[in-house]
Amino acid sequence: MMKIAFFDTKDYDIPSFEKFGKEYGVEFKYYETKLSVDTAGLARGYDGVCAFVNDTIDAPVIDKLYGLGIRIIAMRCAGYNNVDLKHCFGKIHVVRVPAYSPYAVAEHTMALLLTSVRRIHKAYNRTKDFNFSLSGLMGFDLHGKTVGVIGTGKIGKVFIDICKGFGMRVLAYDKFPSAEGVQYVCLDELFGRSDIISLHCPLTEETEHLIDGAAVEKLKKGVIILNTSRGGLIDAEALLDGIKKRKIGAACLDVYEEESDVFFRDFSGHIVDDDVLARLLSMPNVIVTSHQAFLTEEALSGIAETTVKNLTAFFGGELCENELCYRCGNVENCVKERRERCF
Ligand code: NAI
Repeated sequence: MMKIAFFDTKDYDIPSFEKFGKEYGVEFKYYETKLSVDTAGLARGYDGVCAFVNDTIDAPVIDKLYGLGIRIIAMRCAGYNNVDLKHCFGKIHVVRVPAYSPYAVAEHTMALLLTSVRRIHKAYNRTKDFNFSLSGLMGFDLHGKTVGVIGTGKIGKVFIDICKGFGMRVLAYDKFPSAEGVQYVCLDELFGRSDIISLHCPLTEETEHLIDGAAVEKLKKGVIILNTSRGGLIDAEALLDGIKKRKIGAACLDVYEEESDVFFRDFSGHIVDDDVLARLLSMPNVIVTSHQAFLTEEALSGIAETTVKNLTAFFGGELCENELCYRCGNVENCVKERRERCF
């Protein structure tokens, strides 16, 4: 039975990983702590490591894990912006879960949009307090509005379908356009024409701060910004500034640039040091969820099953179709058609 050190464990992770672990012969040791240079030593004596979005997998951590004999990092998520893949090359293989219910994230995005537009969060609090006043709860129809979708991969496509179901007009931008029946435009046109903008592209050097001060200038007044992708896509200070200047009408964020220090934890009763987050949360037109878009039963089960299968394929000497291949520089779409391992 292979033994895997599982970092940044949450209660909801355990049932599905136990189920598939038992089925496929993988034993997990669950650590609550995140993976970092200070905690990497906990992987001593294990065959591999399982990590998540806010674990630190930079050069010092990779070197430490490699020194402990770790040969695989199984990311239990799609994004891998927190992994120094270049540094892993030749030392530690990295696998991920490229797809698991894109519906989970796309539906959460629409839930945030509807909550914001129809003021459901305010109405919920009011009626709980027997306040049945409608004052300040005016919304608007989504039907006929223009939504700009940046990144039309698995999640973006599902979100587009949902928006079409609402009778919205869809504009899209993608570096590699692949969706059918959608009008692709350049970023500036999308910025200028969209009533709502939703981000569904990965965080890369190219997309970091895609929404910065200069982009905010180009936005339509009153635009709603949705981000369920990665926090670093938005310069949070520029977003805050745009909200203060009434340029941005609302923001719905499931991710935040500096989320690793706060998200997934309970800080109620504590003083949060992040002034930008605190100011954003104080805005009546900002809704923040704590990186929960993936959190459905279907998605968690899919994540656990694929992660366990990635591990058994690796240790069984098989080809890992979900390996992030650094060798050809084409990380997600290996030009060698995955006939062999990355190294
Ligand atoms: P995907 O790989 O299917 O689609 C990503 C799309 O972004 C592709 O069409 C790609 O061509 C496009 N893209 C790449 N570089 C771009 C650029 N420079 N500009 C514009 N578009 C670019 O990925 P998927 O599954 O749709 O996930 C999208 C993102 O959602 C992930 O990268 C991840 O960061 C985020 N995510 C968030 C979750 C959450 O719980 N909040 C859960 C799962 C994913």
